[in-house]
Amino acid sequence: MNYRHAYHAGNFADVVKHAVLALLIEQLKQKEAAFRVIDTHAGLGLYDLAGDEARRTGEWRHGIGRLMSRNLNPALVNLLKPYLTVIRIANGGATLTRYPGSPWIARELLRKQDRLTAIELHPRDASGLRTLFAGDRQVKVIMLDGWLALGSFVPPRERRGLVLVDPPFEARDDFEKLVAGLKVGYRRWPTGVYALWYPVKDLAAIDNFRAELARSGIKRLLRAELLIRNRAAHGRFNGTGIVICNPPWQFEDTLDGLLTGLWPHLADGPGAGRSIDVIAGE
Ligand SMILES: C[S@@+](CC[C@H](N)C(=O)[O-])C[C@H]1O[C@@H](n2cnc3c(N)ncnc32)[C@H](O)[C@@H]1O
Repeated sequence: MNYRHAYHAGNFADVVKHAVLALLIEQLKQKEAAFRVIDTHAGLGLYDLAGDEARRTGEWRHGIGRLMSRNLNPALVNLLKPYLTVIRIANGGATLTRYPGSPWIARELLRKQDRLTAIELHPRDASGLRTLFAGDRQVKVIMLDGWLALGSFVPPRERRGLVLVDPPFEARDDFEKLVAGLKVGYRRWPTGVYALWYPVKDLAAIDNFRAELARSGIKRLLRAELLIRNRAAHGRFNGTGIVICNPPWQFEDTLDGLLTGLWPHLADGPGAGRSIDVIAGE
């Protein structure tokens, strides 16, 4: 496990993933009944943007840094509201010094009846997460292989909620694990919302991933990608993708509005843009 999210926190992929995460949680809040968020690869939870790792790559400057320094159109501001509100809370204002990870964002958006289960395998990150949420009765931090959670932690007691699966893609088989993990989770809990993150880099692997999902028998699957440059630029991290199983009603339109507004701010070269497609729809 060499991957350290501290080098990448707040980059363009985090912006998209976390803005989508915040919108999905806001949708769950439309009903009074409690829900649970399960974050299978949670990371550290809060990142120091002045720290060594963040300064070495500077990736956040092309992600959240750009967003916070630009005039955004009102429609985009509206869609980013839950996400940017959390960013401001984490920073105590509009000056960026820290970047919250997915468990922090989820926790900030919960109501008192909702719960978060944050799973992380790296001992240092798991211990950091435990410290971050110490004494918080709504959060459970577990040091465990996150892939196991899809077999053992769903359905949650609340029977409503969201599973975020955000692996580091260090291993070549992470795409296969995403498909297998979703199938296991879906079998146990077919009404849960699942958000699976992937990098747009290896196009053959993505095509195969999409084909496997289409063959999976899972009924409602939506895919969205935001490209910061040409999708086929060789060997580069050209974009960020997310697959959503059981998206909320009309979420396709919400995603379209979000990504259409975001991509011009995150673009890094010709070929930038966005795409949304329905892999499976009832
Ligand atoms: C992309 S980062 C997660 C970022 C986080 N979800 C966020 O959005 O802020 C992936 C994380 O997964 C952890 N990890 C790697 N393999 C894992 C496994 N099998 N189970 C759980 N966590 C794992 C890494 O240590 C790393 O912190």
